[in-house]
Amino acid sequence: MKERVLTGDRVTGKLHLGHYAGSLKNRVTLQEPYETFILLADVQALTTHFDKPDLIRSHLREVALDYLAVGIDPNRATIFVQSMIPEIAELTVLFSMFVTVNVLRHNPTIKSESKNSGLDDMHYGFLGYPVSQTADIAFCKATIVPVGDDQLPHLELSRKIVLRFNELYKPVLAEPRALISEMPRLAGTDGKGKMSKSLGNAIALDSTVDEIAFKIKRATTDPARIHKNDPGHPDVCPIYAYHQAFHPDEAPEIREGCEKGTMGCSACKGRIAAAIEQLIEPTRERRAYYAARPDVVDDILIAGTRRARGIARETMREVRGAMGLDYFD
Ligand code: TRP
Repeated sequence: MKERVLTGDRVTGKLHLGHYAGSLKNRVTLQEPYETFILLADVQALTTHFDKPDLIRSHLREVALDYLAVGIDPNRATIFVQSMIPEIAELTVLFSMFVTVNVLRHNPTIKSESKNSGLDDMHYGFLGYPVSQTADIAFCKATIVPVGDDQLPHLELSRKIVLRFNELYKPVLAEPRALISEMPRLAGTDGKGKMSKSLGNAIALDSTVDEIAFKIKRATTDPARIHKNDPGHPDVCPIYAYHQAFHPDEAPEIREGCEKGTMGCSACKGRIAAAIEQLIEPTRERRAYYAARPDVVDDILIAGTRRARGIARETMREVRGAMGLDYFD
């Protein structure tokens, strides 16, 4: 039997090139050797967007389109909707009995994510999202969870919760392990931090050729490089980071041209715009195909959710049995 992979995204916005470099590309590869489950995390999106259910509703299908567009194959991977698996909520409640508030409050990712609202004003659901994330992983007995390094503390907690469950009751759950993305976070076009839609420095996966060219043209480069022949510093330039991410073979030559001042920024930008277009072109076509066939997309989500639900029911039967909650079986 193939090992299972579980990944997913909060459905708060369309996915962009940063998601592609950091996770989507890898998922396309993983669906071959592993049985892949991909979760549209609408409940988790509610932890921060509970007052914007319309936004979540509209983005659910957009993210599904992004998955299909980059080459997630619905015949291989199971794409499903989190809120439609009530067993995930049930398992979350059971886990929450033995996870302490302190452990959650000290989780570094929760801490940094709650900086705006402050720890004392945090919503209950938000504080507990690593617990519900554990249920996402545990219900399908996924053993491999590809994540960025910000999610590592969550994965460590997930592992502990599963081990604790198995020790307290019966060993019915599978121990998950993190598969860390080797790619550093892709920089935003403003060079100020990671690519993020809310910061306005992202390149959407469904960008047109002109949109790509426009965003790249406006992107920040090495500020010390004022004249075309000034020597540049590729390591502080987001454009160079894109060269490394999207055509690493050509990066050394780009570095040399930049450092020696023999390749100007506009030539360098032209090269990367072309490389990004090459990558996005097939994605754009597949997206258009599915966007024109909403019924096909819905059928994919319905089938994936039904399949995930079947597995969830089976796991919950074992969980209830392990805890002696199977009164009338
Ligand atoms: N937290 C992830 C994100 O921010 C999404 C997610 C929800 C997830 N449940 C998960 C990731 C379980 C890995 C495993 O995108």
